[in-house]
Amino acid sequence: MDRIAKFVERMVSYRDPDLAGHHRRLGSEAYSFALHLGCSAEECEGFKQAAEIHDIGKMAIPENILNKASRLTPAEMMLVKQHTLIGHEIISPLGLSQNVEDAVLMHHENFDGSGYPRGLGGTDIPYFARMMRICDSFDAITEDRPYHWGVSWQQALNIMDNDRRFYDPELLDEFGELIRTLREEAPG
Ligand SMILES: [Fe+2]
Repeated sequence: MDRIAKFVERMVSYRDPDLAGHHRRLGSEAYSFALHLGCSAEECEGFKQAAEIHDIGKMAIPENILNKASRLTPAEMMLVKQHTLIGHEIISPLGLSQNVEDAVLMHHENFDGSGYPRGLGGTDIPYFARMMRICDSFDAITEDRPYHWGVSWQQALNIMDNDRRFYDPELLDEFGELIRTLREEAPG
């Protein structure tokens, strides 16, 4: 974890330990994914850093909305969606790489154009953001959240496969291959 990611981790962990955990897990998974895709060492480090800070904008969203167990109202949903723009604004003075800025701003863009904040689709969504969309979903689906119980990695891959339209299909297949290799090799 680099200096910036550590700073973010300390700040986030006082407000939202679950989010700090999400950032941490995503960091190591993201690094493996970038390596698996053949990214350069610098890109792997950049993608890891992006994963470790990508949801920092959630610091600006009220806790009762972030952790609400029931369905969000349209107004609350609009507020939650602001976290990508706010996160991008927070990190903008740091002079991070364009790849990292893109991943923070656009990690909720969907491949079919139904995501936010811009509603971009296909390869108009930057590469790092398409990669992050997949890592982020996988962690969200496998971990317990106030509004759902986490499922197994196999179930998570199935769920994501059924929702293929949201993800870059080639990247999703690569990710599935990586997770199967990592988890099937893992002891226990
Ligand atoms: Fe997010």
